[in-house]
Amino acid sequence: VDIDPSAFEHGDVSGEPRMYTEILEQPASVERTLRGRLDERFGTAHLGGLDMDARDLRAFRRVKILGCGSAYYVGQMGASMIEELARVPADAEPASEFRYRNPIIEPDTLYVAVSQSGETVDTLLAVEEIRRKGGRVIGLVNVVGSAIARACDGGIYLHAGPEIAVASTKALTTMFVGFSLLALQLGRVRDLSVADGRRLVNGLQRLPAQIEEILKTEDHIADIARDLADAESMFFVGRVRGYPVAREGAQKLKEITYRHAEAYPTSELKHGPLALISPKVPTVAIVPADELTDRNVAALHEIDARGGPLVIVTHPEVDLGDLHARRIDVPRNETELDPVLLTVPLQLLAYHASVHLGLDVDKPRNLAKSVTVE
Ligand code: G6P
Repeated sequence: VDIDPSAFEHGDVSGEPRMYTEILEQPASVERTLRGRLDERFGTAHLGGLDMDARDLRAFRRVKILGCGSAYYVGQMGASMIEELARVPADAEPASEFRYRNPIIEPDTLYVAVSQSGETVDTLLAVEEIRRKGGRVIGLVNVVGSAIARACDGGIYLHAGPEIAVASTKALTTMFVGFSLLALQLGRVRDLSVADGRRLVNGLQRLPAQIEEILKTEDHIADIARDLADAESMFFVGRVRGYPVAREGAQKLKEITYRHAEAYPTSELKHGPLALISPKVPTVAIVPADELTDRNVAALHEIDARGGPLVIVTHPEVDLGDLHARRIDVPRNETELDPVLLTVPLQLLAYHASVHLGLDVDKPRNLAKSVTVE
């Protein structure tokens, strides 16, 4: 894959925080992840680095995804895509936990290690443990030739370009795209129809322009971010595909604003967090146009009724009725791919909240870009 060096110059010359330039690079980085890998005719993806043929791919009965931090949250998004498209049971677990519970390694499970740096020690040791016990691991890794990339049986390089800011943005969106390609290929060697495959290929091709569209709404998002930054504590909620989006949104906000942000499935609000809702505790809700929209909106009325401020990340076609909320609209894609677009405004929310608070966006206290010690 050709990497366009001009994609990285921006950050060095503009004087803007790296996180900001990395957010803006996403249309280009997603384009690079896709380059040469989509097959419009057969509605599938070609991932030469996996080094597996259709028979190998059909033999897997389960997919287990391992990563840390944002890589774990995007792993959850990936797991639900794999289940939806390939109909193979899939789940994600923090690599740091997996290693310590004497995991059962199954020969017919495809293990996937996700890491931007390729150097995170917990993820690396999990890969080594799986391989020692005879399991097969592929890597979704950004840094070429990194320790995790070398330790895996094969993999998918992300080609996001160097990511310097501690808070992951373009690596995360390209990880999502990497999972989409994997889910598509796994799906097409199983029951996913060519028509569905083509629908997804087409959806993936639309992503860069749609991310660009979201980035154009930055001023509106910055305005909301300034209000959120004043709150000491907030919730991020979403359901099913939207739940890992909420988790990642809360993670980003915590990392760079030091505000307390907690993610919950929207459906769990009534089982605990509603007790904390007040005019001082805002909620950021992920409400895509999908089979759960009405239920989502109904649950948010419970927050509204208690005076909890609401920010709703949604699609233009969603009718929020008489809810008191500030809304952020993102363009709609195929339902399975929507999570990546819903994630982008949350990066800008966290970024602008951090700038508003006068914090060091790129180097948050107590955190390292990659954790290479246990
Ligand atoms: C650190 C960073 C996180 C990152 C995680 C995984 O904890 O602070 O932002 O998501 O490591 O990093 P990796 O390089 O493995 O994706």
